[in-house]
Amino acid sequence: MGHYVSFQDELKLRTDMTEEVIRKFLPREEGFAKSMAEAMNYSMCAGGKRLRPLLLMETCRMFGGDLSVAEPFMAAMEMIHTHSLIHDDLPAIDNDDYRRGRLTTHKVYGEAMGVLSGVALLNYAYETMLTAFDIAPENSGIIEAVRIMAHKTGLYGMLGGQSVDVENDGKPVSKDMLDYIYRHKTSALLEAAMMAGAVIAGADKEQTAVIEQAAEKIGLAFQIQDDILDVTSTSEELGKPVHSDEKNHKTTYVTLFGLREASHQVAVLSEEAIELLDSIDQKNEFLKDLIRYLVSRRK
Ligand code: IPE
Ligand code: IPE
Ligand code: MG
Ligand code: MG
Ligand code: MG
Repeated sequence: MGHYVSFQDELKLRTDMTEEVIRKFLPREEGFAKSMAEAMNYSMCAGGKRLRPLLLMETCRMFGGDLSVAEPFMAAMEMIHTHSLIHDDLPAIDNDDYRRGRLTTHKVYGEAMGVLSGVALLNYAYETMLTAFDIAPENSGIIEAVRIMAHKTGLYGMLGGQSVDVENDGKPVSKDMLDYIYRHKTSALLEAAMMAGAVIAGADKEQTAVIEQAAEKIGLAFQIQDDILDVTSTSEELGKPVHSDEKNHKTTYVTLFGLREASHQVAVLSEEAIELLDSIDQKNEFLKDLIRYLVSRRK
């Protein structure tokens, strides 16, 4: 890894790379199902931080992997994440009207298309991942990465977390249950991103387990910061409504522990994640700077 002058410039450069990769894999808007392809691309092209594909790429880079094999997984990762956002915003879940600075998918295309295009993105993610076999049929990390993605997205991952989250709107939630919710609804996809990047690059079982632990902490910190911003930011800055959690009577780290303690937890968890990365021989300074930067993110 070379050095760079400004983290902000480097972040912009690498986010732009990620953006280009994502666009390469988007579905064509044609045929009878054209409007669904449009709805899928509408949410995918609205921007967003592209954090998960970036983490996937940087973890692959950390272990010296072939980034061309990581590309379909980067795009797929963002498709799965975007699917989770489209559905999270639906009237039946958080009922939010803005996302990534524009009207949510269900507001523009209607609820039925919000449901369908969300699931279609989830499915398209797997179609996309599987194209990695065309690039490197001999890479045994590919099937392992697909397995990780499937596991971390479903019942035992993000969707499990989302289900416990919505079931408990307005109910008292214990710290244990809240941690379950955060580890699943948010950490699971960050774990999937970083573990997939690692195994594609040939990381061994022990290294991948450390990456998983680091990603879990980054995910917890990320979700706590998201809860903080829901209270302290503006909808202009965030590109999505503020006070969504209050509207849905959510228990969060902020409601349980207050803003100060929640912020402290973000910093502690991020430092613990960096220590875990430091325990691995392979290094990526940018990845560590990215984790530090997330602590003070404003969107
Ligand atoms: C939002 O994720 C959902 C959470 C897990 C908090 P991001 O904050 O990464 O959303 P985008 O992709 O930048 O829009
Ligand atoms: C999001 O939690 C987790 C997923 C979408 C899987 P939130 O409901 O807090 O996310 P935002 O704040 O709407 O982005
Ligand atoms: Mg939600
Ligand atoms: Mg939400
Ligand atoms: Mg939120």
